[in-house]
Amino acid sequence: MSTIRTAETSSRLRCIVCGATPGSAGQDFRCTTCGDLLEFFFPGWTSNQDPPAFDPAALKSLWLNRRTSLDALDQSGVWRFRELLPHIPNPEEHVITLGEGNTPLYRLPRCARATGVKNLRAKHQGMNPTASFKDTGMTVAASSAHQGGFRWVACASTGNTSASMAAYAARGNMRSLVLIPDGKISWGKLSQSLDYGALTCQLRTDFDGCVRILNELVRQKPVYLLNSVNPYRIEGQKTAAIELMEQLAWEPPDHIIVPGGNLGNSSAIGKALLEMRELKLISRLPKLSIIQAHGANPFYRSVREFGGKKLEPMTADTLATAIRIGNPASWKKALRVLQATGGEVEEVTEVEIAAAKAEIGADGIGCEPASAVTLAGLKKLRRSGFVKPGEAVVLILTGHTLKDPDFTVKFHRGDLFTGTSGEIEGAPAKYLQRAPVVLDADLGAVIAALDAAERNSKC
Ligand code: F0G
Repeated sequence: MSTIRTAETSSRLRCIVCGATPGSAGQDFRCTTCGDLLEFFFPGWTSNQDPPAFDPAALKSLWLNRRTSLDALDQSGVWRFRELLPHIPNPEEHVITLGEGNTPLYRLPRCARATGVKNLRAKHQGMNPTASFKDTGMTVAASSAHQGGFRWVACASTGNTSASMAAYAARGNMRSLVLIPDGKISWGKLSQSLDYGALTCQLRTDFDGCVRILNELVRQKPVYLLNSVNPYRIEGQKTAAIELMEQLAWEPPDHIIVPGGNLGNSSAIGKALLEMRELKLISRLPKLSIIQAHGANPFYRSVREFGGKKLEPMTADTLATAIRIGNPASWKKALRVLQATGGEVEEVTEVEIAAAKAEIGADGIGCEPASAVTLAGLKKLRRSGFVKPGEAVVLILTGHTLKDPDFTVKFHRGDLFTGTSGEIEGAPAKYLQRAPVVLDADLGAVIAALDAAERNSKC
């Protein structure tokens, strides 16, 4: 196993608000002085340091070479970048990997035409082992739990964190406790945590209610918290941005657009961008923009109405259940990277989300509803002039289309918005619907359907 350590690169914890630097974290991963969130920082990485912490060219070539290695850590698209992650002692014993990361970067030609942004791509984090971006953070945080000797790990979730946690816990011989809002997550995600052996509790509350119970629980029981307040999660999720830059030959795009729920992912991607610039791996920063669903938009309102000075929790409601979150834990971290990169925050409607999801699907890619807010947001950012036609844009697709097939089938059948205001608002999106055609088992009927489809595609 090869590593470059040309300088002091060990990581430390720091409170994002009061700056306290505790030697270790408590069970709730909050600062014992002021109660806010902790983050990792790397004291040896200051930009004016001589000699620099890393030789950027040597680091890039080391990471590239690992792509051909047979070592399990090198084959992981997370641990391949371990120089920029907190160190896990005895990785052979403690690292739990499912070969996460290494996700594709696709061009979206139809979406590019629809938005007028020629250089449009999607980094598909739904192509991870449990089909969402959560795996990149989970491999690091679950490994830290293993290294700490924990028997139980736990999370509150809208479905993807729980699926990922349950899988990594199972691989690491740990038990997992899942708290999910009853009836408000997709079956696909619920089925994953059952299959991976989690103790799955469906609580009669929403995601924010699950978080409140879990925060109390970790103070009373020796369970390891795996929500994204856990800074190890954020460190692992940084690697999506590092891998993206490698895929773009270290030439940053002008914009990166991410969905915003609990706001851990945007914080992680932004942190990676800032660190890569500090280490001279990239020479300029892309603008990182965050998109929320209108019915779950506390961060949008915080920035637009209160200049980011406070965040008012809300009761969230959206069909994009992954981001149905009213009190996002990492909003201060997300605000910092939004401001540092000069990004924008937007909100999109339910109909805009559904239409964008179908458009991404029509490019042969597909994603879950929460991921599609990125394309819907891009359309708004184009209309406001924040994104210009000649600029390069990357959407981060966070989950696989098979995570929530119910949503997709209802949209195409035309009953996703039945009985809601979306019924009228959604009329212009009808041309995107491809309802299944039910026919007799008759060759003539199939040929007639084929001919009709061909005629329609010409007009
Ligand atoms: N997209 C998907 C598919 C998600 O599952 C989530 C969050 C997000 C976007 C938002 O990311 O919270 O880091 O801002 N899902 C969490 C969960 C909350 O429990 O699975 P975020």
